[in-house]
Amino acid sequence: MDKSKSKQIPNESRRVATSGDIEVSTYLEIAKEISGEQPIALKEAISPTERETIIVIDFGSQYSMLIARRIRECQVYCELLPHDTPWEKIAPLNPKGFILSGGPASVYQPDAPLAPTYIYESHLPILGICYGMQVLTHQLGGQVAPGTKQEYGHAILHLSDVDSPLFADLPSSSPVWMSHGDKIEQMPSGFQALAYTENSPVAVMANEGIFGLQFHPEVAHTPEGKTILKNFAYRVCGCQGNWTIGNFINDSLDKIREQVGKDKVVCALSGGVDSAVVATFIHRAIGDQLTCIFVNHGLLRREEVERTFNTFHLNLGMNIIYVDASERFLNQLKGVTDPEMKRKVVGEEFIKIFEEEANKIGKVDFLAQGTLYPDVIESASSGSRASAKIKTHHNVGGLPAKMTLNLIEPLRYLFKDEVRQVGLELGLPEEMVWRQPFPGPGLAIRIIGEVTKEKLEILRSADWIAMNEIKKANLYRQLWQSFAILTDVKSVGVMGDYRTYSYLVAIRAVTSDDAMTADWSRLPYNVLARISSRIVNEVPGVNRVVYDITSKPPSTIEWE
Ligand code: XMP
Repeated sequence: MDKSKSKQIPNESRRVATSGDIEVSTYLEIAKEISGEQPIALKEAISPTERETIIVIDFGSQYSMLIARRIRECQVYCELLPHDTPWEKIAPLNPKGFILSGGPASVYQPDAPLAPTYIYESHLPILGICYGMQVLTHQLGGQVAPGTKQEYGHAILHLSDVDSPLFADLPSSSPVWMSHGDKIEQMPSGFQALAYTENSPVAVMANEGIFGLQFHPEVAHTPEGKTILKNFAYRVCGCQGNWTIGNFINDSLDKIREQVGKDKVVCALSGGVDSAVVATFIHRAIGDQLTCIFVNHGLLRREEVERTFNTFHLNLGMNIIYVDASERFLNQLKGVTDPEMKRKVVGEEFIKIFEEEANKIGKVDFLAQGTLYPDVIESASSGSRASAKIKTHHNVGGLPAKMTLNLIEPLRYLFKDEVRQVGLELGLPEEMVWRQPFPGPGLAIRIIGEVTKEKLEILRSADWIAMNEIKKANLYRQLWQSFAILTDVKSVGVMGDYRTYSYLVAIRAVTSDDAMTADWSRLPYNVLARISSRIVNEVPGVNRVVYDITSKPPSTIEWE
């Protein structure tokens, strides 16, 4: 780091050590010694921004992303960054505080990930959660040891210091969610225990602006957790809560105009929420400089083509190139039964058509994509997190490999629920904004075996009935996804006086927060009964309906 440009943190922003505490500078020495890091000087923030940001340092907990979501729900902008992120990447964000996430490691293992020392050197407030608390303890000279009893599940938190800013508006005891094996054997010098549970004498510890929580405040099983996180953001870090979707939209519109200038942008429209919001966003910023390409691969659900075209072209007045490529895709899919091969065929054909159409527009400089924050986090951490390829998710709208276009990704820092809010603020119809996610390869991966015109028609009809019944029962928005699958199984049935030998349709309905895990929805029997009876009566070629009652894992949401 260039020391000539280094800057000391102004005195007033330092935590003041009170009697009994040890100086922060002493902690720094201890932390550096333990981590073996060379001292660094903080560089002046590269572009200080007025936005209040809290950074979550990720140690790999399955809940890390939830922490960021909870903080954003408090109207404070939050980013999740890997634990080895260099200071140069953090400085421009001008953080108001750090949260150290949980994680699967043990701090006393030789290769355990630790917090970079700039966290301590910044003199900003720190909240360590679970493993994050153990990291704090270890790096600041305390002691962590394997617990005699592992603590998983509910515990009751009793506050011993009700005056802590972290506990404002909290009852003196409340349930919390624990998930840890190690425990704090000895707190770092100057720290005090603020709360305890039956098995954790130090469930919360603090020294001035540094806090450690042994439990997980970010999960729904800790009902007061959001209040604790809000207290940290507002009362400890001094945030005001000025991050709103409205502000985000205004900022982004300016940025898009600045980035694009007078150039042209293309965007693939799929009918899904993300591409719909991206297109509307860019259109609001630069109007006719945007052209959307809507490739109908013939694998969409009933009425999807008409609705998408009407919404974007007729109602919002966007330039749309519509390509009906159903026959082309169907030809390419002939004889293809392997799920990954189907994805490959659809993906490659899509890119070919997209390129052909984009080339007709003339010189185009930018490609708009609906990348969301979870994708960004996933790819940023893919080096440090073990991830096995389960399915290749071809995103229709993904960057064509050969095109040399600059990317615009206005949703890059948003979670799905925030994207929906943006869509609503931009005036997209509710029906479009609340659409359930739909896979890029469409119905091709919901037909087991070869995709044919006849099977597509059967599936569209069955899916239409399932969706309508679920909507009628007011369940559509509560479900992450609900749909029909056409299996390649045929079974015997009887209709009137006739024996039938027809297809088996499966219904899948799941709840989920992020599609990483999902539970099968306990749909009311009467809804299931109506779906089943209507499908066998109204869809020729189907004589049996089953309901999928497996969660993810071990299953996946889609059948292929
Ligand atoms: P799975 O089936 O892996 O799906 O549990 C998780 C989420 O991803 C969607 N999905 C896809 N989306 N291209 C996509 O754009 C794909 O190939 C694809 N496969 C699955 C799925 O609908 C669910 O929301």
